[in-house]
Amino acid sequence: MENLENLKTEALNKINAAADLKSLEEIRVALTGKKSYLTELMKSLGSLPLEEKIAMGKSLNVVKNEIESALEQRKNILEEQALNDKLAAEKIDITLPVRPEIQGRMHPISKIFEEVMAIFGQMGFEVAEGPDIEDQFHNFNALNMPPNHPARQMQDTFYLNDDPSKPFDMDAAYVIRTQTSGVQIRTMEKQQPPIRIIAPGRTYRSDYDATHTPMFHQLEGLVIDKNITLAHLKGCLYDFVKAFFELDELPVRYRPSYFPFTEPSAEMDIGCLKTKTELKVGAGNDWLEILGCGMVHPNVLRAGGVDPDEYQGFAFGLGVDRLAMLKYGIPDLRTFFESDVRWLKHYGFAPLDFSSMTGGLSDNGGSAR
Ligand code: DAH
Repeated sequence: MENLENLKTEALNKINAAADLKSLEEIRVALTGKKSYLTELMKSLGSLPLEEKIAMGKSLNVVKNEIESALEQRKNILEEQALNDKLAAEKIDITLPVRPEIQGRMHPISKIFEEVMAIFGQMGFEVAEGPDIEDQFHNFNALNMPPNHPARQMQDTFYLNDDPSKPFDMDAAYVIRTQTSGVQIRTMEKQQPPIRIIAPGRTYRSDYDATHTPMFHQLEGLVIDKNITLAHLKGCLYDFVKAFFELDELPVRYRPSYFPFTEPSAEMDIGCLKTKTELKVGAGNDWLEILGCGMVHPNVLRAGGVDPDEYQGFAFGLGVDRLAMLKYGIPDLRTFFESDVRWLKHYGFAPLDFSSMTGGLSDNGGSAR
């Protein structure tokens, strides 16, 4: 019996001193395994007289149970410790800068969208969206471009033939939108004035050369309220182009133009310096057309469910890709969509440098390019 007490004390000491799971397992085998002293004692019970056998058996079982539960407890502690050690060793400090350097680059188009959203966002505009696959009501009819309107021919439209088994019905077919102007209608359908939105997005026309790709990007703007005038249009767009080109002074002019959805309509030019070798935005000897704009045509307001006797507004639309080419000196539009990583490395932007009016649009002092 005394022996048994010693055995127990010794066993518990060993168990509690086990430093890791591996040594605990060795201790377990030595203490309770087939060849252990305890197992041998159990086996030797058979040779004892009955009463002693019962008494000794009981005591042995008690000791065995105690040893086993001590093993179990120690195992839990060591397992938890091992997990904590592992977590500590594998901890990643996500606040550290990326190493060796940021590899991914932001596409110039995405950057330009960020920039225009920062500019118009500060003026109180919201971003609106519409579908790429559009019906002709939103893409044309509601914009004062009914079927057979000559202005439709200006846009080399992709019509969708969703059921080739039937004769193609040009008037009913869906199109992939030729302009973001349809978002004007979709916004008016959802919301009564005051409206102040920009709609960035993809547009599509059947055209392909150094300055045209079948898919390109536009930015639409729409402002509607009770007393909106041409002066608001001019002030808003003047502020926009100065902010966009990051210039304090930038000459602008408006030329009369024609768009079915605006009346009067204009095109806005910005001053630039053209030499044989370069084109620089700013004061200079020449003008560069930058966007189309005008006062929203009453028919368009009506088509969107807005009363033209109560409200009026202005709209504008611009080609985002051309703006990117201009601002960042990218000569060929087609390269935008070739997915060449070398090109992106050269013309792309650091993805974590967010554009903002206060922190900087294209260069916020970070690792911009
Ligand atoms: N949707 C026109 C186009 O694709 C651009 C445009 C011009 C939009 C004048 C407008 C606008 O909202 O007022 O050529």
